[in-house]
Amino acid sequence: MIIQPQIQGVVARSCHPIGCKAAIDEQIRHAQLQQTTPGLPKNVLVLGASSGFGLASRIALTFGPANASTIGVSFERGISDKGIGSAGWYNNIYVKDAAEKAGLITSNIVGDAFSEQTRQTVADAIRTQCGGKVDLVVYSLATGVRPNPETGEFWRSSIKPVGESVEGYSINFESNSLNQVTLSAASDQEINDTVKVMGGEDWLSWMQFLQDNALLAEGCRTVAYSYIGPEHTHAIYHKGTLGLAKTHLHQTRHDIDALLSGIHGKADIAVCKALVTKASVFIPGLTPYLLALYRVMKAKGLQEGCIEQMDRLFYQKWNDDNNRDNEGLIRIDDWELQQDVQDEVSAILAEMTPENFEQMADYKGVLNDFLKLNGFGYSDVDYQAPVDIEQLKTLVP
Ligand code: NAI
Repeated sequence: MIIQPQIQGVVARSCHPIGCKAAIDEQIRHAQLQQTTPGLPKNVLVLGASSGFGLASRIALTFGPANASTIGVSFERGISDKGIGSAGWYNNIYVKDAAEKAGLITSNIVGDAFSEQTRQTVADAIRTQCGGKVDLVVYSLATGVRPNPETGEFWRSSIKPVGESVEGYSINFESNSLNQVTLSAASDQEINDTVKVMGGEDWLSWMQFLQDNALLAEGCRTVAYSYIGPEHTHAIYHKGTLGLAKTHLHQTRHDIDALLSGIHGKADIAVCKALVTKASVFIPGLTPYLLALYRVMKAKGLQEGCIEQMDRLFYQKWNDDNNRDNEGLIRIDDWELQQDVQDEVSAILAEMTPENFEQMADYKGVLNDFLKLNGFGYSDVDYQAPVDIEQLKTLVP
């Protein structure tokens, strides 16, 4: 079967497994170039390990100088009558495959990170694979829904401004267009539900579960990822529903510090750069900023993808307290927020319209990154060659 990209709005409905392998190999090569540094983790649980920042964290720590043993949790689907499966499914498979070839230990747990069953499966995996304890927990889930354990109903996040409505543009990869959107202000219920889904409550409950089951090593650390962004994205992000959820996540760090005090553990927030991921292209109003940012950061030689960010986090910033801001957050959005970068981004945004965005900004680059997330757009993959579906069915994460 020949697999073509199928895009609906900003959602990929197909992926190319051979291209997913090319994406993993590319990230592994980057991780292998890093220099070692003291105090790297050895046994790591990654929640949200199959794509974006979680995947890059896992690759950085497995294949970089840490050579850590990793357990990756994700929610992905394999090949079925309905389709080829998700890119994250194949990412899990090829990470594990590459690790095994390199003599490294990894395992994948595909299931709902919010369920009790997944927690028990993780606990078992820590006992058998990691000698009973992990020394780092990466929390990198991005989702729109979280089940309420008491009622069985779902909290659903809303990506909206708070206080007043906002006008902006959103990208559509299917029609290659930039479309005007008006985002109405969130209700109190929408704000509360978004904080439930993307705030710190689930991070804290995972750490509580691991601590209660004695699965955390002395000095264990944990990190969750956040975004703040420049002033002109604040209405839609930092001061909107997602930003309030992130503020809650930041505060949760202190609760986790208290929880881990007995084992001298520590919780961190790493504030990352804006990047094209499965989750971020979904944020209405943010994509024009991404288009402009890509153009400016590439021109200045400052552009990074998820793996560059995570390699910089773990191999340059991780153990250096000078790399924290006055709130104690680790900043790997430092290059994005440089004044010269933001001045040029603002100038582009002031001129950008649905008619000129392809010329004014890096639409081609953003689209290409989106395709690459799903295994398309690699020059060394022959996309005209048929993919062996029967062989794909034999692969397990
Ligand atoms: P992503 O969509 O690429 O990855 C999300 C991961 O969560 C996937 O592995 C997915 O399988 C997993 N997941 C989702 N629901 C799950 C569930 N119920 N059970 C188990 N696994 C589940 O997202 P991305 O962009 O890497 O986001 C990760 C974190 O980084 C988020 O907290 C996000 O806010 C943050 N971040 C993202 C930025 C960006 O520009 N993409 C910038 C700064 C922070």
